[in-house]
Amino acid sequence: MSNVSLPSLKDLNIFLDIATEAALAAGSVLQQFWGNLESIEEKGRSGDLVTNADRAAEAEILKVFQRHLPEHPILAEESGPIAGSQSDYLWAIDPLDGTTNYAHQYPFYAVSIGLLYQGKPVVGVVFAPFLNELYRAATGLGATCNRQPIHVSKTATLANSLLVTGFAYDRRERDDNNYAEFCRLTHLTQGVRRGGSAAVDLAFVACGRLDGYWERGLSPWDLAAGIVLVEEAGGRVTAYDHSPFQMDSGRILATNGPLHEPLGDVLQNTRPLGNPDQYQTS
Ligand code: IPD
Ligand code: CA
Ligand code: CA
Repeated sequence: MSNVSLPSLKDLNIFLDIATEAALAAGSVLQQFWGNLESIEEKGRSGDLVTNADRAAEAEILKVFQRHLPEHPILAEESGPIAGSQSDYLWAIDPLDGTTNYAHQYPFYAVSIGLLYQGKPVVGVVFAPFLNELYRAATGLGATCNRQPIHVSKTATLANSLLVTGFAYDRRERDDNNYAEFCRLTHLTQGVRRGGSAAVDLAFVACGRLDGYWERGLSPWDLAAGIVLVEEAGGRVTAYDHSPFQMDSGRILATNGPLHEPLGDVLQNTRPLGNPDQYQTS
């Protein structure tokens, strides 16, 4: 990806500010609907929820982009693709990452807004309203939380690490459901958290609270912003086998750097456990 050109630092700063305005606006919508939802529906797959808060927050974000950058294409989780003439750019927008948490009033959720330039994530804003944490990063500009610089951790061994992962909505339909990896790494580390918001998981790797994150079955709107945070905070993002990250694979390994090889090696060398329905003895 090193041969991809970049927007100017001036433009990146402008895009960061627009994404921040949109994320804060969406965050206040999410806070208004907190504990007061009008609808919770399944989007087709069991457990994949959408609420009126997801839709209202996304509408708020789209208004901000319509006002400032109407020529930029958008891929928003609830609205799908929105065309624009500036085809080098694509905004990947998740108005509420962690809908299941939010619907249960488990306060771990975020707005995630990332910008891809020629396919590469270059701007990321993640706003976690309940934590009151605003994470921002752009390629070459560093990463911050509430405007203070952040850095990945220095943890150098799996035995000393705290990791995070997640389980995609198709987990009941496939053997490759991440259960085996979760068990094995729970055994090898100080713990593996299941946060329920990929954007917050990546932000926490960026700020050093967590040492590494892996997951499969994700979409660009889950990942784009958080990838920039981790990379700009000094971390590393690849596929499980350490090859360059491919957005359309939906599979990510993001770490502080020192843990990248050992964690990737475990992920590549773990056989699926299969369907837990088979675990019962009678
Ligand atoms: C989900 C969250 C979760 C991850 C799921 C995502 P949503 O996003 O990021 O942590 O495990 O795979 O789909 O549906 O809450 O926007
Ligand atoms: Ca999401
Ligand atoms: Ca979402």
